[in-house]
Amino acid sequence: MHDLPLRPRRLRRSKNIRRLARETRLSTDHLIAPLFVKAGTNVQEEVSSMPGQYRFSVDRLVDEAAALNALGIPGIALFPAVPDARKTPDARAALAPDGLYPRALRALKEAVPELLIISDTALDPYNSDGHDGIVHGGVIDNDATLDVMAEMAVLHAEAGADIIAPSDMMDGRVGYLRAALDDAGYADVALLSYTAKYASSFYGPFRDALDSAPRHRAHVPRDKATYQMDPANSDEALRELRLDLNEGADLVMVKPALPYLDVIRRMKEASDVPVAAYNVSGEYAMLKAAAANGWLDERACALEMLLSIRRAGADVILTYFAKSAAQWLAGRE
Ligand code: PBG
Repeated sequence: MHDLPLRPRRLRRSKNIRRLARETRLSTDHLIAPLFVKAGTNVQEEVSSMPGQYRFSVDRLVDEAAALNALGIPGIALFPAVPDARKTPDARAALAPDGLYPRALRALKEAVPELLIISDTALDPYNSDGHDGIVHGGVIDNDATLDVMAEMAVLHAEAGADIIAPSDMMDGRVGYLRAALDDAGYADVALLSYTAKYASSFYGPFRDALDSAPRHRAHVPRDKATYQMDPANSDEALRELRLDLNEGADLVMVKPALPYLDVIRRMKEASDVPVAAYNVSGEYAMLKAAAANGWLDERACALEMLLSIRRAGADVILTYFAKSAAQWLAGRE
């Protein structure tokens, strides 16, 4: 024996001592499942770049939501797949009181009232230019976009959304939506701000799912770099955090998650509201592809990824692995 009084391995010797020493836990309590809805009945269509994820018609969406609720998942984040024929430069389909999205919210609330619904107020699913904001003269019109989003937020609140999540990165939208919701009598509806949403290339499969990528046309910006954040920056995330907290955000979010764990940590240290992280479509697709090839163990790697996002500081994780993880954590699969 050598003289080694300090032996960190003493705390790793057995399963039970590792349980005592464990600093971070992953539970279903933290997970939110993003879901896609589309028109029709009895539709469940797999997204080719996201195996195991589907576009559901409202009836099937409700069944899926009930299954997630039964697994103990606290909530879902809903995104609509809108056919091209309904997309316009002013994204007006977003404001139809009987449109697909409010109908889906009402059906969900009726069938599974306790499951939290996080609704999305960005315009890209409805915008024929494929941007989160209205394009005017080749640029994104921040303030015109706010007006549409405020109307959308009130429509979603009316239809039963518990939490409204602007995923657009327009300046001032948290305060603007807060005021609109309060004026309309929805002071109890919370705001989850996409506080630091990066101009990331990891959103590709999501844009496949909704066919929502920026259109390659004259006078349409080719990417989202004038509103989503530069991947090189993290001080700027704290500036966005300060603004969102001042404007009344109830929860704040970093997106994507794995390439931005440092930002999650900085945000967690500076935030006095819960911090969410969005483990996005490209992060999901990478692991699914590797697992399908037999190169990685899906379950072990997914749980390790989610735990890492928790360790970085996320209180809430939006992840396409939510349903599988809930099953794995319950020991049901
Ligand atoms: C757009 C939006 C995007 C995602 C959620 N909302 C993509 C984008 O900004 O182009 C991406 C989610 C994912 O990749 O899983 N408002």
